[in-house]
Amino acid sequence: MPKASHLECSLCGVRYNAAAAANLCACGGPLLVRFDLDILRHRWRRRDVPNGTASMWRYAPVLPPSDANIVTLGEGWTPLLRTKKLGARIGADNLWVKDEGMNPTASFKARGLSCAVSMCVELGIKKVAIPSAGNAASAMAAYAAAAGIEAHIFMPRDVPQANYLECMAYGAHVTLVDGLISDCGKMVAERGPAEGWFDVSTLKEPYRIEGKKTMGYEVAEQMGWELPDAIFYPTGGGVGMIGMWKAFDEMEKLGWIGARRPKMIAVQAEGCQPVVRAFNENEPRSRFFEDAHTVAAGLRVPKPLGDFLVLNAVRESGGTAIAVSDDDLMSAGVQLATDEGIFAAPEGAACVTAAKRLLESGFLKPADRIVLYNTGSGLKYPEAYSTRFPRTAGS
Ligand SMILES: Cc1ncc(COP(=O)(O)O)c(C=O)c1O
Ligand SMILES: [Zn+2]
Repeated sequence: MPKASHLECSLCGVRYNAAAAANLCACGGPLLVRFDLDILRHRWRRRDVPNGTASMWRYAPVLPPSDANIVTLGEGWTPLLRTKKLGARIGADNLWVKDEGMNPTASFKARGLSCAVSMCVELGIKKVAIPSAGNAASAMAAYAAAAGIEAHIFMPRDVPQANYLECMAYGAHVTLVDGLISDCGKMVAERGPAEGWFDVSTLKEPYRIEGKKTMGYEVAEQMGWELPDAIFYPTGGGVGMIGMWKAFDEMEKLGWIGARRPKMIAVQAEGCQPVVRAFNENEPRSRFFEDAHTVAAGLRVPKPLGDFLVLNAVRESGGTAIAVSDDDLMSAGVQLATDEGIFAAPEGAACVTAAKRLLESGFLKPADRIVLYNTGSGLKYPEAYSTRFPRTAGS
């Protein structure tokens, strides 16, 4: 018996069986996992949650795999840290960092891949393939190793060295591609069916989003079931943002929170900002962003499949979308490390610059409770940070 009641297309609403392996809807829309929350709300109260495990699996009743199939390396339940100096520096009295760098494989991608690989075990899938900007590949390789599943990974040739080394060490089959994640995705789509690979591309299966939505459950629980006023999220494919938005909806249906939502703020890099452009042009979907480039490798996604879901969340929440330069986000990463002792991935650091700008413009007020998602550890980006701290002979 699957825990989910059904899968539902986010575009056309058609329903699918939750007990069968699923990729996209026939219409091309991403599928979302649905649970019978009306029944669940009488069985699972928010006061029960703190008795659960200190990982994202404390929310197992709203995660699709059954307990016996969970593949875990201790993902989730990451610290929510209140800043001491950085808030004052950028004009925020109440500034928090959700530090996803503490996850296995040092990024929030662990949440999504723990859930997706667990579902592969549940559904009897033995071979998976993933196109990745880097961190999703590392997480996939780690969880596939833990589960004894064969992982086929396609990454841009210039992927950060840490991601390449991790994938090799975890025993994955790695293909380095001369191109972007979109080119990697095409290769998986072309070769996958003949090879018998289950395609775990962003939003092309419904399970990664379920793992990532736990970031939304956690921030609510860690703030005493009172959502913040604004959430800054570094948006590549946008799965974390879509997942958190789904989590808030589920929590309201469970009777855990009210209707108030944080302003959802999508942060992108100037060199790859399809969502920001669509937001500014009032379009429901993004256009392919040509010549995409940024040091924040996870934000180099020229055309996110779930762009319309990200844009919906941003608009419905009264949030905004904002792009920052590579130079600014790297400086912000160093500032965050110096002020708070948090060494952030460039993607996470971009949120600091974005928050500073929106406080300066008056879009956010100093008293607002603001949460920045640092989606990964700076330790995974020696190439990027060494441009700030070059070592000369003798030093
Ligand atoms: C560190 C980091 N932050 C953010 C992102 C973007 O994630 P999402 O697809 O949820 O937008 C990625 C994706 O690779 C990443 O590795
Ligand atoms: Zn559909």
